[in-house]
Amino acid sequence: MPVIGVLSSKGGVGKSTILSALAVVASKAGALVRLVDADPQQSVATWWRLRKTENPALADANILKGKTATKLGPDDWLFIDTPNAQLAQQRNVIDMADVIVTVMKPGAFDLASIVETERIIREQRAQRKVIRVLNDYEPKQPFHNEVLGHLTGQHGERPFIVQHRAVYGAATATGSSAVESNRQARDEITALWEAIQLKVLQ
Ligand SMILES: Nc1ncnc2c1ncn2[C@@H]1O[C@H](COP(=O)(O)OP(=O)(O)OP(=O)(O)O)[C@@H](O)[C@H]1O
Ligand SMILES: [Mg+2]
Repeated sequence: MPVIGVLSSKGGVGKSTILSALAVVASKAGALVRLVDADPQQSVATWWRLRKTENPALADANILKGKTATKLGPDDWLFIDTPNAQLAQQRNVIDMADVIVTVMKPGAFDLASIVETERIIREQRAQRKVIRVLNDYEPKQPFHNEVLGHLTGQHGERPFIVQHRAVYGAATATGSSAVESNRQARDEITALWEAIQLKVLQ
């Protein structure tokens, strides 16, 4: 049962948007996806209630504490959305995840916040399972390219890019996902899903 956790120490960077898009792409590709919403804001749970699909399905968040009767099969993929604050409290997610997707936006304050994210991941020796996503990226913005260069230099590999597209917000608000109506969105999230599957196998 592969476990994927989405994390960042900053709020509003697109964790829930990307997790829901990944869930759609993965389930359409044949994976059995179980969503766990560990965020009191319940963004992903609310999104799922607008869809009410069997795949992805919404799982009881108590599953993280082992306090639920929900049975998970070996072929189920657990996708965990986390709250923004107190990354230190997400250590259980870092521990149990086969792959941690860290999400950041190309802003000045975001750059400061990823230092904290990276520190906690390093502390738990979880670097090998991290996939970094630079979200809301605009190719024509010089500052965004500076951030991309900076992150690439720092980690020795380019982060995954998810571009700024208004459809991400519009579609998610209706229980849909940008990947269902926009080919470029589908392509970039599919590339991310493929990288996650490879990482699970590593
Ligand atoms: N690639 C994108 N292009 C355009 N808008 C985006 C993109 N990604 C996210 N957004 C918008 O950014 C806002 C924050 O997204 P989201 O709620 O997914 O972030 P989050 O990290 O889950 O937030 P929180 O920390 O509050 O849980 C939303 O309005 C969403 O529609
Ligand atoms: Mg969220």
